[in-house]
Amino acid sequence: MLKKLDEIKQQAIEELGNITDKADLEALRVAKLGKKGVITGILKQMGSLSAEERPIVGQKANQIRGEIESLIKQKQAQLQQAEQERKLAAETVDVTVPGKKPEIGHTHPLSIVLDEVKEIFSGMGFDVVEGPEVEWDYYNFEALNIPKGHPARDTQDTFYITENMLLRTQTSPVQIRTMEKRNPPLRVIAPGRVYRSDAVDATHSPLFHQIEGLVLDEGITMADLKGTLEAFAKRLYGEQTKTRFRPHHFPFTEPSCEMDVSCFKCGGKGCSMCKGEGWIEILGGGMVHPKVLKNGGVDADKYSGFAFGIGLERLVMFRFGIDDMRLLYENNLKFLEQF
Ligand code: DAH
Repeated sequence: MLKKLDEIKQQAIEELGNITDKADLEALRVAKLGKKGVITGILKQMGSLSAEERPIVGQKANQIRGEIESLIKQKQAQLQQAEQERKLAAETVDVTVPGKKPEIGHTHPLSIVLDEVKEIFSGMGFDVVEGPEVEWDYYNFEALNIPKGHPARDTQDTFYITENMLLRTQTSPVQIRTMEKRNPPLRVIAPGRVYRSDAVDATHSPLFHQIEGLVLDEGITMADLKGTLEAFAKRLYGEQTKTRFRPHHFPFTEPSCEMDVSCFKCGGKGCSMCKGEGWIEILGGGMVHPKVLKNGGVDADKYSGFAFGIGLERLVMFRFGIDDMRLLYENNLKFLEQF
């Protein structure tokens, strides 16, 4: 029986070596140490032994049971540790795996350029103001020295809402609204949507954007207009940019002009961008007409000022070489994602 007990221990050691999971370990524990296990089996046979042999075998059986028990505990600890390591390995984050790129929106080209324009004028002390898109005929035309029947009304195909109410055709009405609210000296730009009943094509849209400018103070002259707008053009298109002012006519300015910038693609030699001209027209402006000052409640004897109107779409199209204005409104992601 003593020999048998040694064999049981030997076998348990061998079997333990092959065990790799907890369930098998538990089965082994039951088979060796359980109520129906091999050691209990030996103890049950002790009745056949002599009184001298019994304590010796009993002691040996207890010793072997104790040894197997501690071997099983050891194995349990080993399995636990191995499992822990497996878990950790599975949960490890590989920081070198390339991440998933989140889909983020892009700033619309109109907004990119408008933000730049705002920044440039803010740097020169201008405030950004706004006016309504649904406007009174009075502010859009009358107060700007464009009375009913004036030919300038025909050139701006107006969406009328009622006889006296319309969708503004220009941002110039914000000049009057600003003069009503604030006293000179003042420097403002007023960006916003304007509307004209134009058929859609590569260079026309019934909705487009303008940026109005107004400067009022004592002693403002055409030199201030030129200096300000030249500085603006150089900031927007680069220091090498040249400007040229051509006489023009607007009912709300006197004298009036248009400003061209040297083509930033060819530098003035003439190319497809500037249609061979070397120059690109980017805004209209002039000295605010005394009648307009009066309509805004400004003392025209004391104050003078200049105003200008910039077409945002043109700036954007020239900046990015976009040849069809419709691209700016169609919300085609393939187009918009390039910005
Ligand atoms: N409102 C004019 C237009 O839509 C643009 C303009 C020209 C605005 C001259 C001005 C200006 O303030 O002085 O064509």
